[in-house]
Amino acid sequence: MTNNDQSAPDRYGLVGHPVAHSRSPLIHSMFARQTRQRLTYELFDAEPAAFETTVRGFGAAGGKGLNVTVPHKEVAFALCDEASAAASAARAVNTISIVAGRLHGDNTDGVGFIRDVKVNQRQTLAGVRIAVLGAGGAARGIVGPLLAEQPAELTIANRTKERADQLVEQFAAAGLVARTFAELGDLPPMDVLVNATSAGLRGETPPFPASLVGPQSFCYDLVYGTSATPFVVWARSHGAGRAVQGWGMLVEQAAESFAIWRGIRPDTRTLLKQLAR
Ligand code: ATR
Repeated sequence: MTNNDQSAPDRYGLVGHPVAHSRSPLIHSMFARQTRQRLTYELFDAEPAAFETTVRGFGAAGGKGLNVTVPHKEVAFALCDEASAAASAARAVNTISIVAGRLHGDNTDGVGFIRDVKVNQRQTLAGVRIAVLGAGGAARGIVGPLLAEQPAELTIANRTKERADQLVEQFAAAGLVARTFAELGDLPPMDVLVNATSAGLRGETPPFPASLVGPQSFCYDLVYGTSATPFVVWARSHGAGRAVQGWGMLVEQAAESFAIWRGIRPDTRTLLKQLAR
C-alpha cells in the first residue's frame, strides 16, 4: 500500500467548526509513520454554510478522504452518494472517502467507542445493565453498536423524553427503553453509564440522579478534555468504580477511519501508551 515515493502524498483532513485544537492531525500522522503510509492530514474550519463547498473543493483538488466532526455529521450523511450500514443507522457520517468524485460515507464512532470500552478498558457489555444519558446525534451513533453487544437492558434517558422515545422506536429492540432523568432515580446503580449529552460542556453540573452510580459502575464520557470532564468528576464524587473520558474512543475511531482509507489498521495500543494522559 505504500505510495510511489515520486508521487505527492495522498491528502486527508478533518472538517468541523471549530477544529483548531483537534488532536486528529497528530493521531493520523503517528498512524502514517507506524504503517509507513505517505499522506497528509489537514484541518478545515468550515461554518455550516461552507461545509459542502469545502468537501467538494477538497475532492476536486484530489483529496482522498475527510473526517467530519461537530456540527456537520448529519449534513455529511445527507451529502454522501453512498452510506455504510453504520452511517445509515447513526444517520451521521464521520468518515468520507472520495473515489472518482463520489462521496462514500461511513461512521466509525460506534465501533471506536465499543473497542475502547471492551478492549482498552476491558469492560464487559454483554448481559449487563447499561444507560445512555442523552438522545442527540452522539447517542444515536452508539445505540446500534451497544445493542449488538447484547446487554441485559439498555435505557436511553434524556431531558426531552420525546427524543429518547424516537431513538427507542428507531432501534426497536428487546430491553431497549426510554426514560426521563427523574425516572432513572428509581433504578439500582447501572453497570455501565454513558454520558452522550452536551451538558457539562459549559461547566454545568450534570443533571443525573446520583443513585445511578455505585462501586460496580463503569462510567464513560463520550466527551474528552485535557483534564477530568464534569461528568467524570460527578461520577467519581458519587463513588463510581471507574470513570473515564472518551480519549481512547477518539484514537480508536481514527484508526477505523485510517483502515477504511488505507486498508491497514494501525496499532492503537502503542499510540495510546505514547500519548497516555
Ligand atoms: P450531539 O450531536 O452532541 O449529541 P445534540 O444532537 O444537540 O448534540 O444533542 C445534545 C444532547 O445533550 C441532547 O440529548 C440534549 O438534551 P435535549 O434533547 O433535551 O436537548 C442534551 N443536553 C444538552 N444540554 C443539556 C443539559 N444542560 N442538561 C441535560 N441534557 C442536555
